[in-house]
Amino acid sequence: MPYAEMAETLDKYDEYIRAEGFEGQINLTGGEPLLHPDFFKIAADIRRRGIRLGILTNGTLIDDACAEAIAKLKPVFVQVSLDGSEKVHDAIRGEGNFKRALRGIDCLKKQGVRVLVSFTVMQGNYKEFKKVAAVCARHKVDKLWWDRVVTDDPEQYVTTSQFKEISKAAAGLARRHPFISNSRALQWIPEGSCSYECSAGKRLLIILANGDMMACRRLPFVIGNIADVSDLKTWLKSNEIMKKLAEPVFPRDCVQCPHFYKCAGGARCVTYAQTGRLDARDVNCYV
Ligand SMILES: C[S@@+](CC[C@H](N)C(=O)[O-])C[C@H]1O[C@@H](n2cnc3c(N)ncnc32)[C@H](O)[C@@H]1O
Repeated sequence: MPYAEMAETLDKYDEYIRAEGFEGQINLTGGEPLLHPDFFKIAADIRRRGIRLGILTNGTLIDDACAEAIAKLKPVFVQVSLDGSEKVHDAIRGEGNFKRALRGIDCLKKQGVRVLVSFTVMQGNYKEFKKVAAVCARHKVDKLWWDRVVTDDPEQYVTTSQFKEISKAAAGLARRHPFISNSRALQWIPEGSCSYECSAGKRLLIILANGDMMACRRLPFVIGNIADVSDLKTWLKSNEIMKKLAEPVFPRDCVQCPHFYKCAGGARCVTYAQTGRLDARDVNCYV
């Protein structure tokens, strides 16, 4: 979406957050957002409106000059993806990209930008969390968080015993390293107190490059196109998919679980991808 169309989208969002009294936050993601020719124009417009800005990137295009330009935007965070130590990350994301991502992280840190690292767990990297945590500690990353890959390909998704293994390792590491965040679905299990809630239908709206909107990037439902909407607040409140996703889900398999009300079945996106059901217990739950 070029800047001119993006500005119209921003107008609609701006109007919406003002009507709701929200501060608002826009996370620019992709694909790779830094490849967008108007990236800095769009980001500056977001900040000029007083909306908080987050940037989700693979980090490979960030050198000193780019980091300086990003720092001027005062983003709340820049998230860089690391999918493993060098060998594993490069096997997933291409030769040389681990070093490039680390250079990006270092340049951002030099500029005082808050850097998050996102680790997406899949079959090929679920044993790598500890190594990624060590890399993050060395590079003074502010927060490391992880989540499961959303896929219907059994060759890629993690099994429940693998998920349990990484959850326990991450919980142990977080006790020593407070920058590690275990706040995503089911990650609370080793410590016993649930703090996760799926935000689909509630606090989240995805807008794709062609204007298509989704309630969640990882649930395959397009709910409309922003070009067809004039009043976003009214439209969102009457959208049937948003309304359905906002309803509490209490999977039958979970009724005896003490965490039933808060967890509400865990990650609906992970489970939907693997079962086609929105009302099922998280496929990796081991409570
Ligand atoms: C879609 S990417 C876009 C930003 C940037 N190009 C990057 O690679 O980080 C944002 C995050 O989503 C994660 N991601 C991509 N595909 C995913 C999937 N199928 N399930 C879960 N996470 C995924 C990436 O690992 C990354 O951390």
